[in-house]
Amino acid sequence: MKINPNIWELKPSATLAINEKVKSLRSQGASVVHFGFGQSPFPIYEDIVAALKKEAANNNYLPSLGLLELREAISSYLQKWHDLNYPSDTIFIGPGSKELLYQTILILEGTFLIPQGSWVSYLPQIKARGGDFIILPTESDSDYKLDAVTLASYCQSNPEIQKTVILNSPNNPTGAVYTSEELEGLAGVCREYGLVVLSDEIYSRISFNSVTAPSIASYYPERTFIFSGISKIFSAGGYRCGFMAIPQDLVHLRSSFQSLFSETFSAVASPVQYAALTAFRGSDGLDAYIKRNAEILNLIGTYVFKELSAAGILCTKPQGAFYMMVDFSPFQQKLNGLNLYSSESIASYFLDQLGVALLPGSDFYFPTEKPIFRLAFVDFMGADWPREAGAEEGVSAIKKYSPKIVEGVAKLVAFCKS
Ligand SMILES: Cc1ncc(COP(=O)(O)O)c(C=O)c1O
Repeated sequence: MKINPNIWELKPSATLAINEKVKSLRSQGASVVHFGFGQSPFPIYEDIVAALKKEAANNNYLPSLGLLELREAISSYLQKWHDLNYPSDTIFIGPGSKELLYQTILILEGTFLIPQGSWVSYLPQIKARGGDFIILPTESDSDYKLDAVTLASYCQSNPEIQKTVILNSPNNPTGAVYTSEELEGLAGVCREYGLVVLSDEIYSRISFNSVTAPSIASYYPERTFIFSGISKIFSAGGYRCGFMAIPQDLVHLRSSFQSLFSETFSAVASPVQYAALTAFRGSDGLDAYIKRNAEILNLIGTYVFKELSAAGILCTKPQGAFYMMVDFSPFQQKLNGLNLYSSESIASYFLDQLGVALLPGSDFYFPTEKPIFRLAFVDFMGADWPREAGAEEGVSAIKKYSPKIVEGVAKLVAFCKS
């Protein structure tokens, strides 16, 4: 049987392999700290669950582009939280931002630019449609954020082709957040060379230094597509509901998206869209809930960063989302002494020998021989944490409510010191 070679060549990621291994170890009763897990640890806010329940009997197919009230609510949400003007006719709903991103990649021609230190799924999606891509270099000094000079130099050498850059802030896997100045600089280059920007803003309100992370759409609205949803900010990943907002200048693409949606997923489940409506309309209670969740993540991320840095591991400083990169280069000799030469083999060793799961940097576009990993600090039950800010903070609270985090950090530190 002949298979589309673009699909045939897709390999299961190392991330998947680690997750499977953690599951199997845990089912055998082993104690594993899962720093590979990338799901929000908090329960879904009760009003959102109630909205889903209320619509459970709703068996109508909704329009392919999504429920109009929901698209209007998201338009107001983008205005309120990000000061962005994306009218409801530029906003589309899909079964997760991941699917919407894929459909956009299907629609766009040209070369896709991925900064080193980006989300694992971008490249497989591009490969699945047989697209051209390039991984742009980034530096640890700037927490692996793409800089304007690097982008400009690539564009200068490749002026003719259509180029689409994929940006993600707050970032998975680094936890970095682009500043307004950095985005303004990138926007200048994008404008000069007519780039399309796919701005993945799925963690926008899980931002530790400001209420929301800045968006490049503030500086380059004419060609920025925004992707977000309810998976991370509203902790509802399993509901599978995301949105995209396309630039007003490109609103003619709407019919292409509409056709593609209607010929593929049809529409997102009706009850889920009503639940998302409650999420995006928001309320004081929900806003306070999201803010407190971000505070807890900040507390834990800062703790992990401090402890691991003090042990000599090179870490990106989490400024948003729930991840950081941890680089064991200072321990290269020790790792080589154990016959470990790739991030995949080291991740496997850490899991088998320390009971700590980290994801290899090779899945995030780092060279396979670099001993760098993504650490997700969400192996805890968010519901256990007190809801009032400042009620209990500091290391004692982390020990009490997120003991697995403390255990995992201690194991990595002990490895470095041994
Ligand atoms: C950076 C990034 N983008 C997109 C997604 C996909 O989110 P969704 O659940 O909306 O498909 C994830 C989920 O892990 C993510 O980390």
